[in-house]
Amino acid sequence: MSDVSGTQAVRMGMTLETFIMEGMLGSPAATGVFTSLLNQISFAAKLVTSQVRRAGLANVLGYTGEVNVQGEQVMKLDELANETLVTTLGRRGHCAAIASEELDQIHHITNDKRARYVVMFDPLDGSSNIDVNISIGTIFGVMRRSDDGDVTEADFLKPGRELAAAGYVIYGSSTMLVLSTGREKGVHGFTYDPTVGEFFLSHENIRTPKKGSTFSINEGNASRWEEPVKRWSDWIKGDNKAEGRPYGGRYVGTLVADAHRTLLKGGIFAYPADKKSPEGKLRLLYEANPFAFLFEASGGMATNGTDRILDIQPTKLHQRTALVLGSQEDVATFSQFMRKERVS
Ligand code: AHG
Ligand code: MN
Ligand code: MN
Repeated sequence: MSDVSGTQAVRMGMTLETFIMEGMLGSPAATGVFTSLLNQISFAAKLVTSQVRRAGLANVLGYTGEVNVQGEQVMKLDELANETLVTTLGRRGHCAAIASEELDQIHHITNDKRARYVVMFDPLDGSSNIDVNISIGTIFGVMRRSDDGDVTEADFLKPGRELAAAGYVIYGSSTMLVLSTGREKGVHGFTYDPTVGEFFLSHENIRTPKKGSTFSINEGNASRWEEPVKRWSDWIKGDNKAEGRPYGGRYVGTLVADAHRTLLKGGIFAYPADKKSPEGKLRLLYEANPFAFLFEASGGMATNGTDRILDIQPTKLHQRTALVLGSQEDVATFSQFMRKERVS
C-alpha cells in the first residue's frame, strides 16, 4: 500500500503548467498573461536542457565551433542559451523587455500595454563548469512593468523585493526548475521528465532549515578577504561540537548548484567583496536578487554581508554585489562578524 496520501498522490503527477493554472502560485500567476510568461520560461528551459545535454558532443563530434556537420551555427552555450531565452520570451507578447548577462543594454520587445512584465536573466550560470560536466544553471527574475509608458532600463532598476516571481533551472543529475511568486505562496521544485517533455512537481513548499551544517565559499580568495571574513572563516572551521562546528566545506563554483544545495539543506553560501572584487563578483539583478527572493520565500536569508539584498536600490543593469545566502541563523552569524559584533 503506497504511503503517499491522496492529495499528494494527485499532486505527484502534477505538471508545472497545471500547478500554475490551479493558482498554486497565487493570484498574479493564475492570470493568463503571467501563466503564459512562466510557461514560456519553462519552454525555454526545456530547449536549453537539450542543448546542455549535448554540449559535450560539440567537441566529440568534431563541431568546428563555427559551422557544425549539420551546417548549424554552433555557438558558445552562453550565447545559445541567451538566444533561446530572448527568442522564446519575445513571442506571445507578455514580456515587454529583457535584461540579460549576455546583453550590454536591455533588449526591447514591445511597448504594448498587454505586455505587463519584464524579465532579467543569467542564461547560463557556471559557464566555466560546462566542459567538465559539472552542474550549471539558468537564473531568472520577473518584474512588473512600472506603467504603460515606454519600457526603459528604469523598469529593471528596482529593489528585488518588488519582483513578481523568481526562479532558476539547475542542469544537474536531473534538470529541475525551482520558482516562487513570494513568501506567501512558497518555493516549489519541478523535475523534468525528458521522456514526457514535462516538468513534474517533485519538491512542494521547499523550506530552508534555520541552521545548517555546510559552508560554501571560494577559499582561493582567502588572501584577499577583509579581516572579518577571515575571522568568520576560522570560526566556522573551528572545533566546537556543541555548536555543530566545524561545518563541512562544499564549493561547486556554480552559483545555481551551491545555492540549490543551500536552499534545500541549509547552511551558508558566501561570495564576499574582496581586494580583487571590491563590489563583489556576482550580479545583483540576475544572480543575487532572484536567489535572495527565493531564500526569503523559503524561510532563509540573503544579505550583502550586512544588509538585505532585496532592499538594494540598483543603479546599473550589471552592477555587482557581495552575496551571502542561507539559513537564517548562519547568515545572521556571518553579519555579526561583518559588523565586528563578534570576533570568534
Ligand atoms: P557565470 O558563469 O554566469 O559568469 O557565473 C559564474 C559565477 C557563479 O556561477 C559562481 O558562484 C561564481 O561565478 C564562481 O566564481 P569563482 O570561480 O570566482 O569562485
Ligand atoms: Mn552567473
Ligand atoms: Mn552566465
